[in-house]
Amino acid sequence: MFDSKLIKKLDRIDTPFYYYDLELLRDTLSEVKQESDKYNYKVHYALKANANDRILRMMNEYGFGADCVSGYEVRRALEKGFDPRKIVFAGVGKADWEIELGIEAGIAAFNVESIPELEIIDEIAGKKRKIANVALRLNPNVNANTHHYITTGLEENKFGINQWDLEKVVDVLLKLNNVRFIGLHFHIGSQIMNLEAFKDLCLRVNSLQEWFVSKRLFPKVLNLGGGLGVDYENPEKNPVPDFKKFFALFDEILELKPGQEVHFELGRSMVAQSGTLISKVLYVKEGVHTKFAIIDAGMSDLIRPALYQAYHKVENLSSDLPEEKYDVVGPICESSDSFGKAINLPKTGRGDIIAIRSAGAYGEVMASRYNLRRLPLAYYSDDDLF
Ligand code: LLP
Repeated sequence: MFDSKLIKKLDRIDTPFYYYDLELLRDTLSEVKQESDKYNYKVHYALKANANDRILRMMNEYGFGADCVSGYEVRRALEKGFDPRKIVFAGVGKADWEIELGIEAGIAAFNVESIPELEIIDEIAGKKRKIANVALRLNPNVNANTHHYITTGLEENKFGINQWDLEKVVDVLLKLNNVRFIGLHFHIGSQIMNLEAFKDLCLRVNSLQEWFVSKRLFPKVLNLGGGLGVDYENPEKNPVPDFKKFFALFDEILELKPGQEVHFELGRSMVAQSGTLISKVLYVKEGVHTKFAIIDAGMSDLIRPALYQAYHKVENLSSDLPEEKYDVVGPICESSDSFGKAINLPKTGRGDIIAIRSAGAYGEVMASRYNLRRLPLAYYSDDDLF
């Protein structure tokens, strides 16, 4: 990804910043499109992974819908030109104004996470004399085998409607006049590398949907959520996730009924590998076991390592000297402000350019102004500078 010409250009820009490789992003999106089109599956891009204008515009260009988890995201999707009929809205805590916004805009579906939420959507829609489309987000109690902070489909998680509430939710749904049941929604977690978890999900969906049909509620839409993982260890070797295998699995296992649509909400897998956090080494300092390479990017720019002990590959783009071990840390006043311990890097010195890879998803969007730092800027491979 980084040849010497590009490295020279990156060197001229004030660090830290995010750099997005739009060519890789296009390759990735083309692959998603091609593989999902094979089965006529519809993909809604999960804005929460990265909501930058350029990225959203490209998602829209490719014809993907938008999966939102706040009224702010719904608003952003509308501003960027997404067709409201391709916007879905999930989240356990939708505020009244967010529901109003979604109803006014005529979005494709509220993914409803509880009975009280369903009742409030009905009430607000009634006041507006409108009908709101709702899909029920069910908690399938399937283990995604991923980090517990990003597991969502277990009964102990706050997400979705649990098994024991199903009878009740159907009773409520059948009584409400201002909501239209369009389908079922699931999302079991994120960064899922073992596709077996999706197989378990499909089997649960097959049996759950039979139950709904037996209650005379036909789920026209089956929304299977997102969650496909990316290879953080080898971004160079696997820049594009295996979408072919992913979609083929659903085609193999899901038992569809005539007229049913299958939807997905992919976030990370569509954007992670095309983003890199670029930083410079400020100081190298001797530690007890290894040396510290202190860089100018910190957990305020990319919080994933501090928050989830997530691994991101760290590379020194400026040096080709023999390798040594470094703890690569940021400038923030917290010990968790670290990007990796005892990692091998070519001998590193002040001013070297450090690339923190696979940071296109849940990187820039999760940046904060902790320590009153400025938010990181973003540059794109087709900017004039490049
Ligand atoms: N749909 C719903 C309802 C979700 O909650 C999520 C992610 C997605 C779709 C998209 O999932 P993806 O395809 O990106 O796995 N900040 C964490 C990840 C949190 C994911 C939250 N939900 C991280 O940095 O790993």
